[in-house]
Amino acid sequence: MASSSSSLIYMIFFLLCNSCSYFDGARAQIVLPGLSWTYYDVSCPNLESIITEQLKKVFKNDIGQAAGLLRLHFHDCFVQGCDGSVLLDGSASGPGEQAAPPNLSLRAEAFKIINDLRRRVHDKCGRVVSCSDIVALAARDAVYLSGGPNYAVPLGRRDGLTFATVNVTLANLPPPSSNTSALLTSLASKNFTATDVVALSGGHTIGLGHCTSFTGRLYPTQDPTMDKTFANNLKATCPTANSTNTTVLDIRSPDKFDNKYYVDLMNRQGLFTSDQDLYTDPRTRPIVTAFAVNQTLFFDEFVTAMIKMSQLSVLTGSAGEVRANCSVRNSDSLLVSSVGGEGKKALSDF
Ligand code: HEM
Ligand SMILES: *[C@@H]1O[C@H](CO)[C@@H](O)[C@H](O)[C@H]1NC(C)=O
Ligand SMILES: *[C@@H]1O[C@H](CO)[C@@H](O)[C@H](O)[C@H]1NC(C)=O
Ligand SMILES: *[C@@H]1O[C@H](CO)[C@@H](O)[C@H](O)[C@H]1NC(C)=O
Ligand SMILES: *[C@@H]1O[C@H](CO)[C@@H](O)[C@H](O)[C@H]1NC(C)=O
Ligand SMILES: *[C@@H]1O[C@H](CO)[C@@H](O)[C@H](O)[C@H]1NC(C)=O
Ligand SMILES: *[C@@H]1O[C@H](CO)[C@@H](O)[C@H](O)[C@H]1NC(C)=O
Ligand SMILES: *[C@@H]1O[C@H](CO)[C@@H](O)[C@H](O)[C@H]1NC(C)=O
Ligand SMILES: *[C@@H]1O[C@H](CO)[C@@H](O)[C@H](O)[C@H]1NC(C)=O
Repeated sequence: MASSSSSLIYMIFFLLCNSCSYFDGARAQIVLPGLSWTYYDVSCPNLESIITEQLKKVFKNDIGQAAGLLRLHFHDCFVQGCDGSVLLDGSASGPGEQAAPPNLSLRAEAFKIINDLRRRVHDKCGRVVSCSDIVALAARDAVYLSGGPNYAVPLGRRDGLTFATVNVTLANLPPPSSNTSALLTSLASKNFTATDVVALSGGHTIGLGHCTSFTGRLYPTQDPTMDKTFANNLKATCPTANSTNTTVLDIRSPDKFDNKYYVDLMNRQGLFTSDQDLYTDPRTRPIVTAFAVNQTLFFDEFVTAMIKMSQLSVLTGSAGEVRANCSVRNSDSLLVSSVGGEGKKALSDF
């Protein structure tokens, strides 16, 4: 009797916590109402393995795509919430639009990879998994398959019906010329702490930047906080301020998700002002140093901040829709509105 009631209490506790917290070691993660760790366990049990297995193949061919997918999730979440609006043809930072600010260059291939994953997932499970959830899972796999931490992603996001304008996009993505004060202020408006800001910036441990994102630090005058040899090498890659070349964000291990980005910063080899100033500013310098000497600490804080980021202004329940094509809203697609019940549901959602 005693044992069965205590196991009942244990079960209730377990069930409650399954829907509210994820224990990563001693750390509890907050999950917003409407999202859960088990959202597709019944409707699409193989979701995560379909995505992971496909991305292993993609990254084996080109590990650079991991960076593109990680950045896509960041842009999705920072601009009007993780609602897949970044994927829409015609969104301010999406593909194929003259309206897109040129220095927001997301990789065209990242959009193709997401649409391909969407097709594979919907072929197996039907149109139950949102594009925004696929982006969040692809970003997690990008981190893990590049050598970073693995972590569970709360799921159940719905895809948005509205486009982000250029102004809203620019207002929500700090430029690389930002100093730490600007970054802390901008990200505090999304409830990120200084530790979150430094941890999220560690996303720059993989991937590439275009010359125009940092030549303001080289021409006409060289940023005195930049290492001289590093600056000379960057000048060779970017002979003019408008060169279309790219260079790696983390010179020590450009394709590996590790804590070397912070070692770069301690050696004045951060690429953007927004990176290097984290080591100059006394509020964030100790956090940079702590991550540079302890990768486990960085990974823990990165996971916390990513799970937080992945829940920014999410749509849940019957809000939004599950897109049949990540690039277009269902109401804009003749294909979906003509497939009977599914299409009617999509229209009534709208
Ligand atoms: C904190 C403010 C941030 C600023 C100012 C910033 C700025 C930038 C810029 C300017 C680029 C290069 C774009 C180009 O020149 O092509 C870039 C690339 C990148 N960013 Fe950030 N970023 C920030 C936060 C983040 C976050 C939170 C993540 C993910 C956790 C992230 C992940 C990446 C990745 C992976 C790339 C490389 C993309 C590629 O190789 O295609 N960034 N970022
Ligand atoms: C967008 O921002 C620019 C400059 O900040 C401003 O002139 C313009 O009116 C804004 N447009 C809209 C639609 O808010
Ligand atoms: C884009 O580049 C322009 C000019 O270099 C700069 O003023 C602006 O802050 C940049 N915006 C972003 C989001 O990087
Ligand atoms: C940071 O940048 C802002 C402009 O974005 C500027 O007003 C401020 O003075 C800068 N702060 C420091 C400490 O350089
Ligand atoms: C930040 O937290 C406050 C208080 O908990 C909440 O009202 C607000 O919606 C949050 N902002 C974002 C962008 O999540
Ligand atoms: C691109 O960078 C390479 C070195 O990495 C340099 O030789 C070349 O001149 C650069 N091209 C342009 C157009 O800036
Ligand atoms: C790049 O800038 C140089 C001067 O620095 C100029 O001569 C050239 O026309 C510019 N090229 C482009 C494509 O804007
Ligand atoms: C590194 O950080 C982890 C996680 O906070 C902590 O458990 C560990 O003790 C730290 N290691 C060292 C050597 O300080
Ligand atoms: C998705 O929509 C885009 C834009 O309308 C279209 O070019 C593409 O062919 C569509 N993909 C599929 C699989 O229907």
